[in-house]
Amino acid sequence: MSSKGSNGTSAGKPKLAVNVGGIQMINPVTTASGTFGFGTEYAPYVDLNRLGAIVVKGTTLAPRAGNPTPRLVETPAGVLNSIGLQNPGVDHFIDEALPYLAGFDVPVIVNISGDTVEDYARLADRLSQAGGVAGLEVNISCPNVKKGGMQFGSDPIMAAEVTRAVKGKTSLPVIVKLSPNVTSIVSVAEKVAEAGADALSLINTLLGMSIDTKTRRPFLGNVMGGLSGPAIRPVAVRMVWQVYQAVKLPIIGMGGIVTAEDAIEFILAGATAVAVGTANFVNPHTTIDVVEGIEKYLYENGVSDLNELIGAAHG
Ligand code: FUM
Repeated sequence: MSSKGSNGTSAGKPKLAVNVGGIQMINPVTTASGTFGFGTEYAPYVDLNRLGAIVVKGTTLAPRAGNPTPRLVETPAGVLNSIGLQNPGVDHFIDEALPYLAGFDVPVIVNISGDTVEDYARLADRLSQAGGVAGLEVNISCPNVKKGGMQFGSDPIMAAEVTRAVKGKTSLPVIVKLSPNVTSIVSVAEKVAEAGADALSLINTLLGMSIDTKTRRPFLGNVMGGLSGPAIRPVAVRMVWQVYQAVKLPIIGMGGIVTAEDAIEFILAGATAVAVGTANFVNPHTTIDVVEGIEKYLYENGVSDLNELIGAAHG
């Protein structure tokens, strides 16, 4: 079943459209930052107009070279990465990537990271003025950098401070991306919500490491990295469930989504939208397969509107 043009308005077709904190999406499927580049890399395989939104590669004020190699290692049912926010910087993004993305009819969400609270505020300001950006995903959960990232996201007070700083500089919807590497993700979500976030993304990667038994040294150049892929899905579903119960903000759920059933699981737990990440590396068409599978699931189960399923597992 094709979803091209099926924004829920055609008679007999289930409605897939959702709204995430003010971002209207034709369906709930987006991309996890860092797994879909700036969209250009996937355009040969995916009709970008069929996605609910694109969340692009993490952007910082200045270009970053990233961490020492190797930066990726496969694990059972997952991948460890220690990229270190390698990216060409916000000016390059605005000059090169945004004009390309403007040629598509899909909301563009920009993932932003900084070493300081001020960095986040300046990025929000810069991107708000650029035009063509539908929303900001505030990354306070990268486990692979020495400053900022997860340090901010694991402290509810700092997480709130970053959120307030960004909100003070933009009228775009602000989605805050949370870390699973905390004692209570609910405490962080509550503070971020109080600080004015419009939506939440969860979860980022789980901190892990892997050792090469031949060299007897860590595989990754940066020793530790973030674990993603199907291995973390039950943890992510649990966290979406808990945050949905505590905080009345739309959630973009992610962590090991490979199939439409995986996506439906997140939606039943409380996610309004979902992001496909690591699976893009295995099958670049996964996002569209998930869109089509969700539509088929709704059709086969007599559900006329996807929104009826959000949080439905809570009874
Ligand atoms: O290392 C990285 O660039 C990862 C970023 C993230 O997990 O947010």
